[in-house]
Amino acid sequence: MTHAVAKAWDRAAEGWSSSTPVIHAWLRQATAAMLSEARLRPGARVLDLAAGAGDQTKDIALAVGPTGDVLATDISPKILDFARGHVEEAGLTNVRFAVADAQQPVHAEAPFDAVMCRLGLMFCMSPAAALAGAFKALRPGGRFVALVFGDPANNPCITTMLQVARKHRGLSGSVSPYADGGLFSLAAPGRLAGLLTAAGYVEVAAQSLAVPFELPDAAAYVAFVRSSGSPIMEVLAPLDARARESAWREMEEALEQFRGDQGWVGPNELLLASATRAD
Ligand SMILES: C[S@@+](CC[C@H](N)C(=O)[O-])C[C@H]1O[C@@H](n2cnc3c(N)ncnc32)[C@H](O)[C@@H]1O
Repeated sequence: MTHAVAKAWDRAAEGWSSSTPVIHAWLRQATAAMLSEARLRPGARVLDLAAGAGDQTKDIALAVGPTGDVLATDISPKILDFARGHVEEAGLTNVRFAVADAQQPVHAEAPFDAVMCRLGLMFCMSPAAALAGAFKALRPGGRFVALVFGDPANNPCITTMLQVARKHRGLSGSVSPYADGGLFSLAAPGRLAGLLTAAGYVEVAAQSLAVPFELPDAAAYVAFVRSSGSPIMEVLAPLDARARESAWREMEEALEQFRGDQGWVGPNELLLASATRAD
């Protein structure tokens, strides 16, 4: 399973990496909120879980400065190679990289002042294991911060795409939107806060953030997802090229509903969770 997840994200790695400008613009404020919740100081040591192509890694590295350091880990070796490239290009020398499953402990490198995870925790089949690993990796008083997708009802672009993709695959049975390892696995009210509390964290907080996608049109959003949105790419992967094309076209038509006076604005809600390892 873990191997399959790594392979799936390897396939989306190049797309996620080349979409970095779009992702950066989309998540700019949410990432700033994450950094603020992590209470980073110059010199801090940070573990960046599921780091992807390293967009937030660069922000973290800048926040901790040359006397701090960041360990960026991800389950996909290919996406982490892109992260290495982006970090080098930015001239940052305080980041190290390691291929790792966020659900596995990282004792060798501990302790960290903060463990952060932007849009990765919900893909863990056992978020409890990831939170326990992060807890052990933190120093007492250290901060855990994660951004995950929020309520499916407030993420209609994603739910529309999933629905259309499943229809084209002929997957008719109903599935829980909150299924383990899925995009909304941590979106149910109180779920992530409950897991954090159960893992022994204190000062547990969770807030919803409206983080809309602002793009020229629905086609631009679909172009982003078809190159980098691994969960939706994987639903369509078994189809032949023509059938896939038809699914992407139907998604684009359905998503045109979000065009308004201000251009195309795709609603999106994220959940920002934060907690402290008790002393
Ligand atoms: C949506 S991307 C987010 C990447 C990056 N944090 C960002 O915000 O740009 C999700 C990332 O989670 C990683 N991932 C998925 N499951 C993982 C796991 N169990 N352990 C570590 N990384 C995982 C994927 O390889 C991918 O890079």
